[in-house]
Amino acid sequence: MNATLLSSDEITAIRKALDTYLWPEAAAVDALYTVQLRHGWIDDGRLEAVAELLDLSPAYLDSLATFYPLLHRKPVGRKIIRYCDSVSCWLMGSEALAASLRKRLGIEEGETTPDGAYTLLPHPCLGACHQAPVAMVGDRLLTGLDPADPDALLEEGDGD
Ligand code: FES
Repeated sequence: MNATLLSSDEITAIRKALDTYLWPEAAAVDALYTVQLRHGWIDDGRLEAVAELLDLSPAYLDSLATFYPLLHRKPVGRKIIRYCDSVSCWLMGSEALAASLRKRLGIEEGETTPDGAYTLLPHPCLGACHQAPVAMVGDRLLTGLDPADPDALLEEGDGD
């Protein structure tokens, strides 16, 4: 294992997750999130190191990390903009919101602005359907957004 890629704190946290759950598969998301919290994303080397610690295959961990939208397999910006990409928000203009964000930031979904400030991602229902359209900027949930005003979203999301 290339254990040098993981800090002793990460290894301790992953072993604690292993002790907490009955199966290593159940500890896998916690283990991957531990790595992401420190590094911002999960690179191949660290994913392989986690796989070895959990005695799981790297392919299995990669399938988890690419399935869950809160885990990242490539570098992301300092803030992630997650616009809701589900039915209530579609009805209230989320596609127009996404288009105005793409144009304003000059990036497509999954990309990061050249200055590293923002990554744009669609996200399944953010749980505030009655206030659609909604988005998250970092940890901040923004509701009742104007799809034609991406600057208002960026300003409001700048408060963290
Ligand atoms: S559909 Fe957008 S928050 Fe639920």
